[in-house]
Amino acid sequence: MVTPLALGLSYPVFVARGVLDHLWMLVEQYAPNHRYAIIADESVDALYASPVARSLPLSISPERVLRLRVPSGEANKTREQWHRLSNALLSWGAGRDTTIIAIGGGVTGDLAGFVAATLHRGVPVVQVPTTLLAMVDSAVGGKTGVDTDAGKNLIGAFHNPSLVLSDINTLRSLPMSVRADGLAEMIKHGLIADADAFSELCGVLPRLCDSEGAEVAALAEMVARSVAIKAHVVAQDGREAGLRHILNAGHTIAHAIEHALHFSMSHGAAVAAGLVIETRLAEQLGVAEHGLGDVVADAVRRAGLPDSPPRSVSDRDLLEATRSDKKARAGAVRYALPERLGRMSPGPDHSWSAPVGDDAVLAALATSRLLGKRPAD
Ligand code: GLY
Repeated sequence: MVTPLALGLSYPVFVARGVLDHLWMLVEQYAPNHRYAIIADESVDALYASPVARSLPLSISPERVLRLRVPSGEANKTREQWHRLSNALLSWGAGRDTTIIAIGGGVTGDLAGFVAATLHRGVPVVQVPTTLLAMVDSAVGGKTGVDTDAGKNLIGAFHNPSLVLSDINTLRSLPMSVRADGLAEMIKHGLIADADAFSELCGVLPRLCDSEGAEVAALAEMVARSVAIKAHVVAQDGREAGLRHILNAGHTIAHAIEHALHFSMSHGAAVAAGLVIETRLAEQLGVAEHGLGDVVADAVRRAGLPDSPPRSVSDRDLLEATRSDKKARAGAVRYALPERLGRMSPGPDHSWSAPVGDDAVLAALATSRLLGKRPAD
């Protein structure tokens, strides 16, 4: 018997060890359809998509299931991949009678989610995240999309999943550096909305960073907690009209780092550096309480993540790269700024983000380099 988390969302989210074994039962309950298309990251296809395809119940005949693979890596979250997957589905005859099952990390979930959002103007999607980052962030909340040369996630749609299945056992196969990417988003969730979760996470970080696997039980609990924080936000503001901006904490700088480095740095590492830099920015602007930047820097270092900008990119280039961010509005680049642990600033117009001038951003980048012990490259 598996039970979803109580989150107040319109769709169930299961976070448990071994929940993948119940996939078809839950799909038939929450996203039943005539056809099913499994879109999996090629790096986990054999590990997870193949067993899923082999465990079809008698009620679903094999010809009603299509398997598609997507190449790993952010560089593949493109319109070209969207085009290829959509064409494959249409050639197969997929109609509104099709549920898409996305298995993999954030790239697969965002891409397959966008295919689902646009195919026949929207078909159901089941998100099966197999990375920590996707479990705590991208699989929940309905953001789907692709990157373009002009920046990340600039083309996309809000399309809620019908079901999210996070099997903690899949994290055992995750390289430690990839797991750290998820830890960055978990640190963010504590910072923006839950000081206790932040402190508890910092306490268990050494265990979560231990690659031996003994930490899986602690992971399950912290993942559920982190998902609950995100769900609480998106349940109130699904379309990012206001409050949801707080989930962008650290991300204006993070996206600039990723863009400036042509996506050679992982999203989590960029988010970690971005969280520290934007917290120092908030401190210098008098928005955040004194010392918060150091607290966040300590947390990201405990997770083995960078606490300052990359050495290979100048502050001017990073500043320039912030202008491609989709959070820019009326020409001004906006930042979601923390006030203290667990509390974000509502911003001048209660939009939970604020325009910040170039000089202040340059000063925060300089401070972060000065105080940083671990640059982002
Ligand atoms: N990853 C930020 C959001 O879902 O809004």
